[in-house]
Amino acid sequence: MRPDDRGPESDRAAGRDDEAPRERAHTSSAADTEALGAGLAGRLRAGDVVLLRGDLGAGKTTLVRGAAAALGAAVRVTSPTFALAHRYDGDGVRVAHLDLYRLAGLGEDDEELIAEELDGDVVAFVEWPDVAAELVAGRVALEVTLAHAGGDGRDVDLVWRAER
Ligand SMILES: Nc1ncnc2c1ncn2[C@@H]1O[C@H](COP(=O)(O)OP(=O)(O)OP(=O)(O)O)[C@@H](O)[C@H]1O
Ligand SMILES: [Mg+2]
Repeated sequence: MRPDDRGPESDRAAGRDDEAPRERAHTSSAADTEALGAGLAGRLRAGDVVLLRGDLGAGKTTLVRGAAAALGAAVRVTSPTFALAHRYDGDGVRVAHLDLYRLAGLGEDDEELIAEELDGDVVAFVEWPDVAAELVAGRVALEVTLAHAGGDGRDVDLVWRAER
């Protein structure tokens, strides 16, 4: 990779805002990543969409588990890979957790289902979100990218798209 194929140049190429507040974290265990998610919960509001990217097993669902628990969800978050979406009741807010991994593209039914899940007083977490980029545009508060960093280590990159 040439140096100018990454970093700010590729961010600009992707239409991203270089000024967006960026935070970085490193976690050393699943519990750490849950705690990171829990720490984010207080900065999220009804109507927010959080995008989660990263390889299989990077810890996206683990982070959502921590965030959802901190938002008051009593049920332990599990992967919605086959259901597409799970919903949880939190404290004064609902939590939607979508995993679009199995979708190669969006059919009309998928679009309706996703729109329904995002409707109302809901904080929505979306794994493998890129297929639904147009549907969530304008509501994205935070983009999280997790990367394997050896063993149980994970590097976490957070970009806030809403002022918090
Ligand atoms: N630092 C860490 N953070 C998160 N998970 C970790 C960490 N270290 C080890 N793990 C383990 O890695 C796995 C992460 O799984 P998880 O389901 O959260 O990944 P995912 O990114 O949602 O994957 P998928 O794309 O398949 O949905 C779990 O088994 C978890 O225990
Ligand atoms: Mg997952």
